[in-house]
Amino acid sequence: LDNGLVRTPPMGFNNWNSTGCGPDFNAAMVTGIADTYVSSGLKAAGYTYVNIDDCWALPNRDTAGNLVPDPVRFPNGIKAVADYVHAKGLKFGIYSSAGTHTCDVKGFPGALGHEQADANLWASWGVDYLKYDNCNNQGVDAKQRYTAMRDALKNTGRPIVYSICEWGANAPWEWAQGIGNSWRTTGDISDNWPTMMTIAHQNASLASYGRPGAWNDPDMLEVGNGGMTDTEYRTHFSLWAMMNAPLLIGSDLRTVSAATLNILRDRDVIALDQDPLGRSATEVTNAGGKTVMVKVLANGDRAVALVNENNRPLTITTTAAELGMGGSSAYAVKDLWTKATSTSAGVFSAVVPGHGTMLLRVTPNGRPGMPTGITQLADL
Ligand code: DGJ
Repeated sequence: LDNGLVRTPPMGFNNWNSTGCGPDFNAAMVTGIADTYVSSGLKAAGYTYVNIDDCWALPNRDTAGNLVPDPVRFPNGIKAVADYVHAKGLKFGIYSSAGTHTCDVKGFPGALGHEQADANLWASWGVDYLKYDNCNNQGVDAKQRYTAMRDALKNTGRPIVYSICEWGANAPWEWAQGIGNSWRTTGDISDNWPTMMTIAHQNASLASYGRPGAWNDPDMLEVGNGGMTDTEYRTHFSLWAMMNAPLLIGSDLRTVSAATLNILRDRDVIALDQDPLGRSATEVTNAGGKTVMVKVLANGDRAVALVNENNRPLTITTTAAELGMGGSSAYAVKDLWTKATSTSAGVFSAVVPGHGTMLLRVTPNGRPGMPTGITQLADL
């Protein structure tokens, strides 16, 4: 959606993957996450949005038809937490569904038929981001429902990132570029290796649909939630960065390990996600549980992921020609997780641990007169 927002993918937090609708989802969590953003260096690394998910409202609207924040979870309302988040120099996001009710069994009110009134209320609270789910949609055409909210958000006059949470059921990548800032490409993620990798492959096949301001969304991060090893979480984060996914942290940052924070705030990996060219990685080869992915970067570098889906270490090899960057006599290579640097004549090979990913940034050099910047794209 060309609304000037998220020209690189949004970076932030959402409570759903850690709390669901449990009692830990409350105002103290939101303000605690905002505090942690600042104290742990996540804000400095680029994380901006602090977003809340389903179950923030009461089951019924008030007599005027307005949504009402749950007074147990949010005793001072939503505007108070949004103000707190803003005071930290951060942005605040909310959730609803393009249906009569949200997804939770308790049946919280959705915005279908209430688009403008709800958008106006959120804008008055200082909302900067809306995640708009697909439950209880009454069979109304998806494009129509999501367009209605796009227009309502625009009418508020407030810049609000619009995240379409249509779970890929109606192929939103084919119609949502002009409607939302992102759209889900898959069903819900869960905190385990097979689900995460299945989603990664599905999303990678849709690489060509994403672009600045309109991103494929393979769902929020599980890094730090405990169901995968740190090696697997590095693979998860590597793949999401390679694919320009929204980087929405899904673990409770107030209690995560140092290893989790080190994954989430790695500047070199984040730089792939936030590369201004906005071109998603594609799979170059994928056989025997060994996947090679390449991503073209704005300065002409390539990011390369060697992903080992087997549970034992294996050698994975690719070449500059296979990566679409042949013709240079030498390549500078940086291993983005270990920070080790080396040079290569054009073969890139590594023993990759089981469920691990070797993530490289490769700079062709030795090509006489090669300029920096966008003109290198002519080489494609
Ligand atoms: C389905 C979405 O895909 C999830 O991310 C979450 O928002 C839940 N609904 C909330 O009910």
